[in-house]
Amino acid sequence: MNFLNASNMRGGYGRGADILNGATITVEKGQIGVIVGPNGAGKSTAMKAIFGMLALREGSVLLDGADITALSPQDRVAQGMGFVPQTNNIFTSMTVEENLEMGAFLRKDDIRPTIAQVYDLFPILADKRRQPAGELSGGQRQQVAVGRALMTRPSLLMLDEPTAGVSPIVMDELFDRIIEIARTGITILMVEQNARQALEIADIGYVLVQGANAYTGTGAELMADPEVRRTFLGG
Ligand SMILES: Nc1ncnc2c1ncn2[C@@H]1O[C@H](COP(=O)(O)OP(=O)(O)O)[C@@H](O)[C@H]1O
Ligand SMILES: [Mg+2]
Repeated sequence: MNFLNASNMRGGYGRGADILNGATITVEKGQIGVIVGPNGAGKSTAMKAIFGMLALREGSVLLDGADITALSPQDRVAQGMGFVPQTNNIFTSMTVEENLEMGAFLRKDDIRPTIAQVYDLFPILADKRRQPAGELSGGQRQQVAVGRALMTRPSLLMLDEPTAGVSPIVMDELFDRIIEIARTGITILMVEQNARQALEIADIGYVLVQGANAYTGTGAELMADPEVRRTFLGG
């Protein structure tokens, strides 16, 4: 059974036309799933639908076998989902540590061990814990956003373009950390513009076009597919 099974998703914004046209996204436990595709394909919309920020007109979302299609985002967090949105994913006027504390808002137990784990994963954040997050570099801010999402100890971590606007070196570093997170058993679903690099670490990859699955395969399969290379990976 797939750990995440978002199947046949159809939906759009308000009363507008469908943006998702039957997209299906599944990821196995502890694996890394990657969604790539052109701008406006509906990648972020699919992530929002999986997280419950957009009501589906058709289709369903199952997490570890449980149907969560009707749940609010907050209830999905309680069920084990963590989400790092593409934009506005940190509180810039709050310190790094306050951001992490905000991420744990649903928890009643001791959050210190989880903060320590985030600082182990991203040591620079420990150094900057008392600084307003808005003063950090782009890559460090993305670390704060990922750390914040880890504070609820998710079983599924969803990342919408975590490497947007960072240098290639910082991107590689962030991908290494994402692999490290997956090795702890956390399932990852990530949208990426850096398609080649992301597919290199993908157990399962999806090329989304106009809200539907255009190509699906392991990262290696997609990178070896001449049509995918020509159309989406620049040859
Ligand atoms: N909040 C919104 N309200 C209405 N339309 C939106 C909204 N967000 C995105 N869209 C539209 O949905 C389509 C898919 O957008 P998006 O999911 O952001 O694509 P991607 O992440 O693949 O670049 C685009 O046509 C976009 O204009
Ligand atoms: Mg997007």
